[in-house]
Amino acid sequence: MNDMHEIIEEIKSRNDIVDIISSYIQVKSAGLNYKALCPFHSEKTPSFSISTQKQIYKCFGCGEGGDVINFVMKMENIDFMEALEFLAQKSGVEINKGKISDESKENINKKQKLYQINLDAARYFFKSMSDLNNNGYKYLKNRGLDDKVIKYFGLGYSRNDWNDLNNYLLKKGYNQQNLIDAGLAIQTKNKKKHINRFRNRVMFPIFDQRGKVIAFGGRVLDNSLPKYLNSSETILFNKRKNLYGLNFAKKNIKNDTLIIVEGYMDVISLFQYGVKNVVASLGTALTIEQAKLIKKYTNKVIVAYDNDEAGINATLKAIDILNGVNLNVKVLNLGKCKDPDEYIRREGLEGFNKLLEDSIPLIQFKIDISKQKYNLNNDQDILLFTKNVANIIKNIKSPIEVEYYINKISKETNISIHAINSEIYGENYKFNKNKKNFKQKEMEEIKIKQNGIEIAEKQIIHIFLNNKKYRKDILMNLDIDDFSFKESKEILNYIIKSNELDIITIDKLKKIGISEEYIQDVYNINIDSNINLNDIINTLQKNSLKRKRDCLLKRQHELQQKKQNDKNIEASEVDRELLDIAMKIIQLEKEMKNIL
Ligand code: CTP
Ligand code: MN
Repeated sequence: MNDMHEIIEEIKSRNDIVDIISSYIQVKSAGLNYKALCPFHSEKTPSFSISTQKQIYKCFGCGEGGDVINFVMKMENIDFMEALEFLAQKSGVEINKGKISDESKENINKKQKLYQINLDAARYFFKSMSDLNNNGYKYLKNRGLDDKVIKYFGLGYSRNDWNDLNNYLLKKGYNQQNLIDAGLAIQTKNKKKHINRFRNRVMFPIFDQRGKVIAFGGRVLDNSLPKYLNSSETILFNKRKNLYGLNFAKKNIKNDTLIIVEGYMDVISLFQYGVKNVVASLGTALTIEQAKLIKKYTNKVIVAYDNDEAGINATLKAIDILNGVNLNVKVLNLGKCKDPDEYIRREGLEGFNKLLEDSIPLIQFKIDISKQKYNLNNDQDILLFTKNVANIIKNIKSPIEVEYYINKISKETNISIHAINSEIYGENYKFNKNKKNFKQKEMEEIKIKQNGIEIAEKQIIHIFLNNKKYRKDILMNLDIDDFSFKESKEILNYIIKSNELDIITIDKLKKIGISEEYIQDVYNINIDSNINLNDIINTLQKNSLKRKRDCLLKRQHELQQKKQNDKNIEASEVDRELLDIAMKIIQLEKEMKNIL
């Protein structure tokens, strides 16, 4: 093992925190947790608590807390690396020391120290905030935040003081260089003194995705500038690689979706109202690193940036980056409100949820923005608009989505589908010819595949009937709907309903009405000795998705016909269903690709 992260996790998993702590002090079980007299401050009643589930300790008397490694560091008065080695030895994990250079050891210790400083500073700011007369608290109350959410996000206040935090941290045992490294102290111009970086600001601790404080954002209480001040970039904090609120949002992902906003206040305000799957990119242009970070947790994202020119431009850039890492991207239309914070305050949770439902697919958003630039009553403009849209459509990967938007634009501009296609694919576009070839080829492929699927299905049923140990695997991975033959469905239904545990005989199958021919097929089917159950299951899953897709394609065709022939129908309703279908088809195709 030489990946540091892996080593740390391994060591933590092998050293149960209760075992380690109870080798130093007496602990008492209290429900799921353990209690003890705190070893780090003197007390008579136990306020030191250990969570077995989270594998952390916390003292509610003195505030000390952390994981098993922090505990050993503190108890043995050793640094992070030494604590790791200490625990590794105890549990027989071998750390490949050759691989960890002295430099990276030093780096790890440095980081560990910065985490600790940031945490201590956050506690200090929070404490200043809890003095109810301070201006920071008044400011947040004025903006409508309640005490609960202030506490949840650990919001604090940096006093209007040049030295208080600096002196406090020095007294805690850090040296001046540590505080500069952490971005909390700065040197005065004449280099004689060190002062607080943050003064008279509301402090937003910035967490990493694991919930550790890595930096701060501080907001002024009036209109002075800069409105927000951040900690300088440190070895812990790289603005481009971090998303504010991800530590909370990742536990609250809804519908496989994260909402991405610009600012701290948007995240916090939405959270207070109950929208908790929100992260902020902190005002910078969204980076690829941030997009990849989102992709680690979800497949869908809704961009809800500010509704001003800067916000819209940032949105246009962000959606391409998000789309580039294969996220399904939609955009929120805030209407007259300037940002999500203002919107939810005005319209409440229900209003905001409605807005989320109505969020606009990426391509539609781009088309809408483009449309604003042109006057569609003017022929010249219509042409330019169509050219512009053709450029947008060019980048769509899914042919179904392409068709949907081409149809739509053709309707809006009265430019023929054929002309738009030529605009996108060039002069040589031969609409009918290409389409026919594609169809013919597909039909042939379907014929060949059909045979294979029939065999796969009968093989599965054969295995299912004759090998009890595979039944669970099969039932876990396939729904009855994934099978094509009605006989297969009947057999599965029978076994599930009757809870039949034995091998199923031919007689029994006949009794429940399965046709002779089907039974013969299933019993005589060739099962190779090195057949792979997973492969057959995958074949059926894929086929099932394909059938669902074909159904949708049929419906799509019907709707398009209907739209053309029936002038009385509500076009927007049909468009909505068409879009819905297009999205579902894309989703199914994605799932199909995911099955190897
Ligand atoms: N930002 C920054 N520095 C600035 C301005 C903004 O770092 N001088 C970042 C902050 O992270 C801020 C985000 O960009 O949260 C969005 O900026 P803005 O919309 O101006 O702030 P809001 O979050 O709307 O803040 P508020 O409602 O407090 O004005
Ligand atoms: Mn804003």
